[in-house]
Amino acid sequence: MLRTIILCLLSCTAVLGSKYQPYPISDLDPTTYKPYTKGQLVPLQCIRRQIDNGEHVFDSEGNIVFAPFMNCLETNSPLSLKYMEDSNVKCTVKFEDEIFHLFQLYLHKDAPFTCRYELRPNSGIYLPIDLSFRGNVLESHFDIDPNLNVVMLSNNENEIVAGSAFSSSTNTTKVIIGQNVELSFNIKWTNAHKEIIGDDNVGVYWIASRNPWLVVALVSS
Ligand SMILES: *[C@@H]1O[C@H](CO)[C@@H](O)[C@H](O)[C@H]1NC(C)=O
Repeated sequence: MLRTIILCLLSCTAVLGSKYQPYPISDLDPTTYKPYTKGQLVPLQCIRRQIDNGEHVFDSEGNIVFAPFMNCLETNSPLSLKYMEDSNVKCTVKFEDEIFHLFQLYLHKDAPFTCRYELRPNSGIYLPIDLSFRGNVLESHFDIDPNLNVVMLSNNENEIVAGSAFSSSTNTTKVIIGQNVELSFNIKWTNAHKEIIGDDNVGVYWIASRNPWLVVALVSS
């Protein structure tokens, strides 16, 4: 007992004293959950916000409320990704009052369009992904770039470790309230290589270079 306490005192202070904290923070052990398998659905949940000021919606315990991604009219269900499967997904969304006003905030960069997915399926351990739409907010409408690259990183343990999404077309689409808008998601998965950096053994997932000779040159220089 005393031994445990002393051990804890030592290791707990080590943890507290370190300037590095494990991420994602969770009391759960991720390895007790099965990893993803190819093609497995990866649902996205997004932060609910108030339409007037973009502030989070909280539950009675003060937790941020998440809701499934917007409904795509094609499938009548929210957009979800498929683990390690590249795809081009069209998702037509009806820009009704609430969604229209939220997109005014997203495009104006008053609030991020932040969603989350699980590190491992059904683990309850979540990581964030921001969908960075670009465009211009005008008085009675907005112009939106509806074509997004979605880049997802997985690791050798078949976990999803990071993701990002951003508009990438040369033209915007004019949107008025109540209109159906076809959003296009170009989803690409990449297996990121874990590199241990620094004296504190921090693991970093880096996207591999498209040019392997560049990596060789950098490592050997
Ligand atoms: C996109 O914008 C370019 C440059 O303004 C224009 O020439 C082209 O016609 C536009 N394409 C569409 C589909 O509107």
